[in-house]
Amino acid sequence: MSGFRGRDILSIRELSRADIDLVLKTARKMVPIALGKKVSRALEGKILSTLFYEPSTRTRLSFESAMARLGGRVLGFSSAEGTSVQKGETLADTIRMVEAYSDAIVLRHPQEGAARLAAEFSEKPVINAGDGAGQHPTQTLLDLYTIWDEKGGFDGRHVALIGDLKYGRTVHSLTYALAELGATLAFVSPPTLEMPREIVEHVKERGLSFRMAHRLEEVIREADVLYVTRIQKERFPDPQEYEKVAGSYRIDTDVLREAKRDLIIMHPLPRVMEIAADVDRTKHASYFKQAFNGVPVRMALLDLILGGS
Ligand code: NCD
Repeated sequence: MSGFRGRDILSIRELSRADIDLVLKTARKMVPIALGKKVSRALEGKILSTLFYEPSTRTRLSFESAMARLGGRVLGFSSAEGTSVQKGETLADTIRMVEAYSDAIVLRHPQEGAARLAAEFSEKPVINAGDGAGQHPTQTLLDLYTIWDEKGGFDGRHVALIGDLKYGRTVHSLTYALAELGATLAFVSPPTLEMPREIVEHVKERGLSFRMAHRLEEVIREADVLYVTRIQKERFPDPQEYEKVAGSYRIDTDVLREAKRDLIIMHPLPRVMEIAADVDRTKHASYFKQAFNGVPVRMALLDLILGGS
């Protein structure tokens, strides 16, 4: 038994190195099924609910694809519009209903802590698909898979996280994981969007080498992985503050002239203007592969949580 059976996935911090290792290795075995080259009925008869109170393309659809590839079914909603949330139903009540309709619940919600709250009301496993500016653990698992697959490991790899490090939940979760796995980190952001202090403190306590910078040029030469993020417009209390930092960074082929030849560029997507389209054709671009990796990684996770193996 792996210890995943029936388990909530709320924060990446709850997963040990061994847990992460198991997900990555299981995901690798899932790739032929994710590609449709092999057929599996491992989750036949299982139902997954996907409750998305915030927009999503990749996360929701890759969970759906993962479940379908394993022979399971999905029900849910992609926005709270058209549900009883409009009538004032609380998250707790919605969760109590949905728990009875399915075997596990995937939840994305604008409020930090929403998935943890949902887990308190549900006996069935709850998977956090993003809670406000909090965490996004399944994105981190697919990010880790991508780094592991492309770079062969984590220890000593230079990973530069760039963009909105304040509100970006993907970089919060990823930093916690990479701090455990021994990567060398660089945090590149506008001064107003720096990585939250408690996360920086955590990295310090782990004794890892890291740096903070405001300019991409300061880190581009040594990076093995450039993890680019969107400025999270929807989290800004004041739209004028967003305007000040919108477009702070743009990766184009000019900037990449300084980069290592085997640098990989990742992005959780959607991109707005952070990566120029001409970068897509370079060998550095890993973001579409990364988005595909969401399928085998979520298959692995669902099979570990819901499957009989
Ligand atoms: C991210 C998210 O929702 O946090 N998207 C995703 O899940 N791939 C990143 C973002 O919205 O910028």
